[in-house]
Amino acid sequence: MMACQEWPEPIIRVQSLAESGINAIPERFIKPQSQRPKTQSNVVPTKQGFNDVDVENINIPVIDFQDLYGEDKNLKEQTLKRVSEACREWGFFQVLNHGVNHDLMKSAREVWREFFHQPIEAKEKYANSPLTYEGYGSRLGIKKGAILDWSDYFFLHYMPSSLRDQEKWPSLPNSLRDVINEYGDEVVKLGGRVLELLSINLGLKKDFLMNSFGGESEIGACLRVNFYPKCPQPDLTLGLSSHSDPGGMTILLPDENVSGLQVRRGEHWITVKPVPNAFIINIGDQIQVLSNAIYKSIEHRVIVNSNKDRVSLAFFYNPRSDLLIQPAKELVSEDRPPLYPPMTFDEYRLYIRTKGPCGKSQVESLTSQK
Ligand code: OGA
Ligand code: NI
Repeated sequence: MMACQEWPEPIIRVQSLAESGINAIPERFIKPQSQRPKTQSNVVPTKQGFNDVDVENINIPVIDFQDLYGEDKNLKEQTLKRVSEACREWGFFQVLNHGVNHDLMKSAREVWREFFHQPIEAKEKYANSPLTYEGYGSRLGIKKGAILDWSDYFFLHYMPSSLRDQEKWPSLPNSLRDVINEYGDEVVKLGGRVLELLSINLGLKKDFLMNSFGGESEIGACLRVNFYPKCPQPDLTLGLSSHSDPGGMTILLPDENVSGLQVRRGEHWITVKPVPNAFIINIGDQIQVLSNAIYKSIEHRVIVNSNKDRVSLAFFYNPRSDLLIQPAKELVSEDRPPLYPPMTFDEYRLYIRTKGPCGKSQVESLTSQK
């Protein structure tokens, strides 16, 4: 499929729509019954044996990195083990004492909140196109007549530095560009540390994943800032449809006050309860491939609500896009053959785009094409 220059229909800014005071959402945003937030099959027992009550009280693992860098070997081992279990079983965890300054996290969220609360003309200057998606956007995909998600976003490239074009970043608020540069550097460093932990946990050399990604100066990184406006009928729509992240891993800074992210767990959707000052980290499709599916890239989605806007910063940490990504030789054996064919991240993106957006973890469909 050819990359398309323009959107198939006039763009609806969801925030403007929400602020217009409507009390019913347009049909374009109404999801089919099976995708709506409340239709989780809570009554069906799963392998894990959850019941209705458990689902409400369960959270993704919360892991404190403090002990990784302390003296106590036992605590260090335990922490590594918890990371390993989270990557195998959940594909998601929250991390505390990750090394990124808390005030910087707060500033990053606040400059973007301010950006979205500017008049529409200030934002339209950055209106994006489906060619690169860079800038201010309100939809993903170019299928005419598609059912839309209840969110707007801003998308920008951070790494490699050749793709970092600050002229395309908002010039207001004044501090935004500096804050994002500082924040980006810190989050990239955190990403490097996490890759090391995952490599060790997989029994690989500690720089294995970083080398597979192309090395520190070659990795790809981009930021998608999501803005989920209040919604008069939150039960009929989603802020972000179910998907798995195609890249390496995602380092998400959620809204400190408003939850919305849901993670698939068997037949259930678990609502993440954000812990103050934590990042939410999840495994993307490329690490699922490199780990030969020992680590899971798990489906997730976002629900909206009628009382509060929500802002989140999703930092996508990706391999250099022209390197072949395939299961690590060390993780392949006669009993466990490679589950995925070698493919670059560029090829993979093209592959999922032509397949169209799909709910099921996208990488799954690769296993069946061999
Ligand atoms: C994403 C994503 C979750 C959120 O941007 O890919 O899953 O909470 N975001 O906004
Ligand atoms: Ni995501």
